Amino acid sequence: MAESLADANAAPLDPVELLDACFVDAIRRLAPDAVDASALITPSKRPELGDFQSNAAMPLAKQLGRKPREVAADLVAALELGELTEPIGPEDIAGPGFINVRLKSETISTLLGRLDTPELGLPAPVEPMAIAVDVCGVNLAKQMHVGHLRATVIGDTIARIHERLGHAVTRQNHVGDWGLPIAMVTAKLRDEAAAGRVGLDALDLSTLDGLYKLAQAECRGVRPAIAIAEKYDMGPKILAELGAQQEEADEHLAEAKRTLVALQSGDAETVALWQRIYDTTMRACLDACRRLNTRITDEHSAGESSYRDELAGVVDDLFDRGIAVKSDGALVVPLDDAGISEPCLVQKSDGGFLYATSDLAGIRRRVRVLDSERVVYCVDARQSLHFRQVFAAATKAGYATREAASEPSSLEHAAFGMVLGDNGKPFKTRSGENVRLADLLDQAVDQAESVVREKNPELDDASVRTIAEAVGIAAIKYTDLSNDRIKDYVFSFERMLAFEGDTGPYLLNALVRVRSIFRKAIERGVGDGYKAAPMRITEPAEKKLALTLLRYPQTVRAAGEHSEPHRLCALLYDVASAYSVFYEHCPVLGAPDEATRDSRLRLCDLAGRVLADGLETLGLPTLERM
Ligand code: ARG
Repeated sequence: MAESLADANAAPLDPVELLDACFVDAIRRLAPDAVDASALITPSKRPELGDFQSNAAMPLAKQLGRKPREVAADLVAALELGELTEPIGPEDIAGPGFINVRLKSETISTLLGRLDTPELGLPAPVEPMAIAVDVCGVNLAKQMHVGHLRATVIGDTIARIHERLGHAVTRQNHVGDWGLPIAMVTAKLRDEAAAGRVGLDALDLSTLDGLYKLAQAECRGVRPAIAIAEKYDMGPKILAELGAQQEEADEHLAEAKRTLVALQSGDAETVALWQRIYDTTMRACLDACRRLNTRITDEHSAGESSYRDELAGVVDDLFDRGIAVKSDGALVVPLDDAGISEPCLVQKSDGGFLYATSDLAGIRRRVRVLDSERVVYCVDARQSLHFRQVFAAATKAGYATREAASEPSSLEHAAFGMVLGDNGKPFKTRSGENVRLADLLDQAVDQAESVVREKNPELDDASVRTIAEAVGIAAIKYTDLSNDRIKDYVFSFERMLAFEGDTGPYLLNALVRVRSIFRKAIERGVGDGYKAAPMRITEPAEKKLALTLLRYPQTVRAAGEHSEPHRLCALLYDVASAYSVFYEHCPVLGAPDEATRDSRLRLCDLAGRVLADGLETLGLPTLERM
């Protein structure tokens, strides 16, 4: 056991997992037919009795129809814990049958030694996986709002986690840049420019956003109003007025459809206008991505327009192979066999393609061209039916199976919930508009600035600004990441900017505090001999910190497996909290002797590196001082 514990390639490092495996082995030996062999390891309720306890004996006794304490005694006798724990015996059974175990201090040191490598217990995989992550998903001519924050921040972090695990990740920004709504705004822009109301050279996103809304309104028409006027017999004058309005809307819509055809056939003038809309939107989008410290760049833009020449082929292919069938003039892929009652609509009766059609082409490219084994979609939970349909249709069509594979790749909707205002409703401005992402970031940084200035009155303006930018962005990102992504959360500047508690600023500050110890150590002439010092874990606060650090590799793996950044957030918060208690109870530079000092310095160094690596993996900007 001692040897395997020291083996750098033998996962895991987390004592809980090691204990779990030993207990499950013992249960299997004791009761080979037990249906449930869970080890049920938890931190000890009474630390004076041990570090961890297993609660396995109680449910096992029930399954076996025996007394829990007797089963516990048999388990204790069957356990092979080797070097992992202090020897255990009948005296370690407590209450109705809890089994207490105490880790060997040397074992914790050995495990920490294994964590203390440049890869921090996460060596690159022998066979990296190709993974595509759908991120951001902005729409042309629309301001990015708070919903895009989530698709951008969580999506990028999911990608970072997979990158940290050594996989080959491709981010795909599925920009909504094609189709009738885009043609509407293109037609509108042409009219406004021709009338001299909009200058094409100084086009900005807020102008476009206004044109988009106008174009939508103009094309919408008044059919519901006409129906009401008819129903209540409101008279010929009103009906004539509404009729004229409807005619106008029909004309706008017809013009938008002509513009779409012009776009699709590559008409140079129309495409040039579209390109201006595209460039203006993407400039703002990529600025926000940069400011949010994401790795999303222009090279990851793979909008709906990038599939425009593939859509007809996809639809023909589906129809030719009998996967799509005609239904009321439209083409659909029936999905009853996949347990989904609504079919996936791939072509409208007027020949137009849909959101789902480009997503099918997207899966085909991501799996069959990019050869991805996993495709993860970081998109609003409200689109979950869409993704179930598209995934099922793509799987049926074979688009989800890689060239060389026999099984389909894993298609996953990493869904997220809504950002709410403090009234519990979707987060909006006072006037009921969506909150612009750029405004939100400005506000976070402004508020961070007052907090930072208050804490450090002596700092010069430029430093305050730099620190505030990092603190503000970290605060927003951490809030978005640390909540279980599927849940809604309430947006609050005050809460996210607090320097205490489960916040971004608290984590940045924890790292700053670790780093400051090393600055002081250098000032006092302490050499870097600590890097190879034996780590002696004796104090409870040291042990707590050590055990928390040992959870790091497994936590990053689990965050990757489930595409759930909040798992990593929770661990880093635990590390920061455990470090803070350790710092309070265990003097480092003022330790009683050199060996203790070096052991503690090495533990600090490891904590700092886990924090820095974790924050980098989350995509939070870090600071040397704050
Ligand atoms: N543009 C879409 C929207 O705003 C999001 C795109 C999500 N990604 C995708 N592959 N469908 O709703």
